Amino acid sequence: MKRKGAQIVDIKIDELIRDLNSALAAEALAAYRYKLLSKMASGINSEPIAKIFEEMSDHEWKHVSSFMERILQLEGTPITNTSDWPKYSYSTYKEPPKDPSDLEKMIRDSIEDERAAIEFYNNLYKKTQHTDPVTALMVQEILADEVEDEDKLLRLLGE
Ligand SMILES: [Fe+2]
Ligand SMILES: [Fe+2]
Repeated sequence: MKRKGAQIVDIKIDELIRDLNSALAAEALAAYRYKLLSKMASGINSEPIAKIFEEMSDHEWKHVSSFMERILQLEGTPITNTSDWPKYSYSTYKEPPKDPSDLEKMIRDSIEDERAAIEFYNNLYKKTQHTDPVTALMVQEILADEVEDEDKLLRLLGE
C-alpha cells in the first residue's frame, strides 16, 4: 500500500471496498432509474414530478463519483463491468411501472430505494466512524442527501 491515506484505515480493507462497490452499484442503478422515470412520467401532474426525478438522478450520479474516488484512494478497484451492478447493489433494481402515468407507483418504489440507502449508509457510517474518518464523513453527507430524498418523495404523496 503506497498511500498513507489508505494505511491509516483501521478496518478490513477488502470488506470496506466491497461495501463501497455495493454503494457505487446501487447509486449507478438509481441514477439510471431516476433518469428513466423523469423521461417516462406522464399524465396531468407529471411535470413537477419528472423534474424531481431528474434532479435526483443528478444527485445519485454525484454519489457514484464520490464512491469511485474513495475506492481509488483506498487503492481498490471500482466495479469495471456494468453488468456487475445488480449483483453488488444493496438494493434490487425496480423497473418502471408498465403504465407511465402510475406516478404513485414510481414514487413508492423510489421511497423503498431511498430507505434501503438510508439503512445501508447508516450502517456504513457506524462501521467507519472510528476506523476510517474520511469514508465516514463522505457517507454521512450522502446519508443526509438520502434522508432529504425520502422526505421529498413522501411529501409528494402528502405523507
Ligand atoms: Fe444516493
Ligand atoms: Fe437518493
